[in-house]
Amino acid sequence: MNVAIIGTGYVGLVTGAVLSEIGHNVICLDINEEKITKLKKGVSPIYEPGLDEVLERNIAGNRLSFTTSAEEAFENAEVIFIAVGTPQGEDGAANLTHIKQAAKDIAMHINRDLIVVVKSTVPLGTNDLIEETIRTNAIGSFQIDVVSSPEFLREGHAINDTFHGDRIVIGSENEHAGSIIEALFIKLNIPFLHTNRRSAEMIKYAANAFLAVKISYINQISNLCEKVGADVNDVADGMGMDHRIGRAFLNAGLGYGGSCFPKDTEALAYLGRENEVSISLVDAAIQANKEQRILFVNRVLEHFNGNVEGKKIAVLGLAFKPNTDDMREAPSVDIIRTLSANGAEVHVIDPVVKETELLTEVAVTYSKTLEECVQNAEAVLLVTEWEEFVRADWEELLALTKNATIFDGRNVLHNHKLISQVV
Ligand code: UGA
Repeated sequence: MNVAIIGTGYVGLVTGAVLSEIGHNVICLDINEEKITKLKKGVSPIYEPGLDEVLERNIAGNRLSFTTSAEEAFENAEVIFIAVGTPQGEDGAANLTHIKQAAKDIAMHINRDLIVVVKSTVPLGTNDLIEETIRTNAIGSFQIDVVSSPEFLREGHAINDTFHGDRIVIGSENEHAGSIIEALFIKLNIPFLHTNRRSAEMIKYAANAFLAVKISYINQISNLCEKVGADVNDVADGMGMDHRIGRAFLNAGLGYGGSCFPKDTEALAYLGRENEVSISLVDAAIQANKEQRILFVNRVLEHFNGNVEGKKIAVLGLAFKPNTDDMREAPSVDIIRTLSANGAEVHVIDPVVKETELLTEVAVTYSKTLEECVQNAEAVLLVTEWEEFVRADWEELLALTKNATIFDGRNVLHNHKLISQVV
């Protein structure tokens, strides 16, 4: 099938790459010239393990191309995917500017029947709005079907999650359109769930918020474990062995960051307020997540009796989680800002994020090696659980420090006996 994809962020780019890999002709559209120039050369604008290889193979096989021209992208498309961002507005509601623009662009260029698949996470009813926008703005009378197929991939595992997802949700008001989208993905051999459009929209928010609640829950249990002498890792293992609970997303630590959980929990909370329906569990998860970062920094400050002035503190990890260069809502930023504001001499290292504009105003030293980062440090904070940090020779690293305490923000160093674990 001929497929066009609007938006070359994590979702759009990975969807395009995977659809081309299973034999479809895919063209990806983005307004960002710089991104498209890079992609035409086979260079991914984002760090995502395994993505470069898939891009390279399919560009070479002429199944995958990139453009900034809507006309070119839509020329032969039988299915158009919308995978643009829905950033969070000030009141928690998702900002739909890009989505609405995409709908108008499609309407302007359409000259035949078409299926539009919305991958972006959008508030309830947005797919109806998109269909209406395209229908009212299209010149001519065509059959337009908008299908909601929310994305469940995780950054850092995007390629694997797309090839081996747990389900593909197809939310459609027209059975025929739904069956065409099923045919498009059939080679992936992933179970399909057909629903109406609003249920598909809700599945995405409800799933993300549930996972966020799970994380905030284990974090609060972890805080209690510390006070009462229990080990949260054992507790999580014991809970997780109950198949009704499951061990995944019970890793206690600094809480969730990234572009999805913070944004989608806020959007769901907003939807609840808008409809006067209490979803206080989600509100509580949001609150607990905010507190988790503060608790962590407070621990560090308390360790120094409130005075970190002139103390060298090494922060390991900037990205919001391992295997990504994404800094959105990364706990590292809040932690570094607070420490620096308190006069600490903060040195940081991340295997992928070499510098970030989020810390432009902050006095921070970017180290090239782990050794350089921890040298003479009085505290070492593990903020992102990159494999190279977890597997480092901690005995050797500690020997370089000024008798530093290690604050394990991700609860991953429990096998290292020499470490006084904090979170
Ligand atoms: C999340 C969902 O997992 C995906 O299914 C979804 O498609 C995606 O959002 C999205 O809506 O686009 P992502 O944000 O990429 O994916 O990353 P996750 O691996 O889910 O991690 C999210 C956050 O939770 C990270 O900050 C991570 O450190 C934290 N986390 C995760 C924990 O603190 N504990 C855990 O046990 C698991």
